[in-house]
Amino acid sequence: MQELLLHCRPGFEGEAAAEMQELAAEQGIAGYAVAQDGAALVRFVCPQAGDAEQLMQAIPFSHLIFARQWAVGSWLDVDPEDRITPIITACAQGPIASQLWLETADTNDGKSMAALTKKLRAPLERSLTKTRFVRPNKPELPRLHLCFESGQRVFVGWSWADNAAPWPMGIPRLRVPKDAPSRSTLKLEEAWHHFIPRDDWDSRLKAGMTAVDLGAAPGGWTWQLVNRLMNVIAVDNGPMDRKLMDSGQVEHVQADGYLYKPKYTVDWMVCDIVDKPARSSALVSKWIGQRLCREVIINFKLPMKRRYQEVMQCLEHIQDALDEAGVKAEIACKQLYTDREEVTCHVRAISRGY
Ligand SMILES: C[S@@+](CC[C@H](N)C(=O)[O-])C[C@H]1O[C@@H](n2cnc3c(N)ncnc32)[C@H](O)[C@@H]1O
Repeated sequence: MQELLLHCRPGFEGEAAAEMQELAAEQGIAGYAVAQDGAALVRFVCPQAGDAEQLMQAIPFSHLIFARQWAVGSWLDVDPEDRITPIITACAQGPIASQLWLETADTNDGKSMAALTKKLRAPLERSLTKTRFVRPNKPELPRLHLCFESGQRVFVGWSWADNAAPWPMGIPRLRVPKDAPSRSTLKLEEAWHHFIPRDDWDSRLKAGMTAVDLGAAPGGWTWQLVNRLMNVIAVDNGPMDRKLMDSGQVEHVQADGYLYKPKYTVDWMVCDIVDKPARSSALVSKWIGQRLCREVIINFKLPMKRRYQEVMQCLEHIQDALDEAGVKAEIACKQLYTDREEVTCHVRAISRGY
């Protein structure tokens, strides 16, 4: 297993590669990224045997901003006459897995291989369970990823549930709720799935909590908060969805989100205002640094150039501001599947007595 394969949003290969290169250098592991614009996949090749696995173990997946999913493994050329036999042989070189994930790149070329992966699924699953290279009902075992680049070339790799995304290709299957006022409702739901462990939902997204939604209109994010039975202060000069207001859980404040301050510390501040990332990061620093809220989810809209540097700078500014304010916090950032030219940042104050 010589390399890591990373899935990312098409067009963000450079960012995913730069990030991986930097993290590998921090670990003192030699390797190089192979990234082709628009491919939605990045290879990170480690020439030294064992280094790719070591790198994957050393880096928490949650630290990766631009990678949606990853796996450690190698590429295999297959003959269209018989793809199954060489794949099974390659699987024998790696660990036993709990399940099979068939993947492609998130591109039009990738989507055009849906018929092939559909055709291969049943025979592959049969052979893999028969040979016992896949043993269902053993969740502690890794997932086997077969990522088809073409009908002749496939990446055979593995990832571990506690250090990878919980979905094939890192793409969550979320549906827009029927009565949500906008599609962007999914961004907040996906952010929760990504940043908040499922076991914490009942304590951190609890009925009766108070949340402030800056740039709330028409109310997609507010809908998610109301759905968790929270009380929401929705700040926006634009109109809010009528039905959402009828829930009785929403107070609509027509004001500038950058100037608004709650009268007491609230549980959540979420913000989807389209603005410069530097303004958004200053807003996070203010809300957590001045103890206006305990947790934040905010979007950083990215400029066209220097996107990786811009994100790293924003995170650094937040860390510096919170250090200065004497507030300890967990800071995380991810380009979610629902994020286009943007990333989502989560900050949670963890200072005692906050
Ligand atoms: C992308 S939309 C938000 C969509 C919303 N999250 C949803 O799910 O329906 C951005 C909103 O930010 C609001 N906005 C822009 N600048 C603002 C400001 N300074 N203060 C408050 N709201 C602002 C706009 O009026 C717009 O409704």
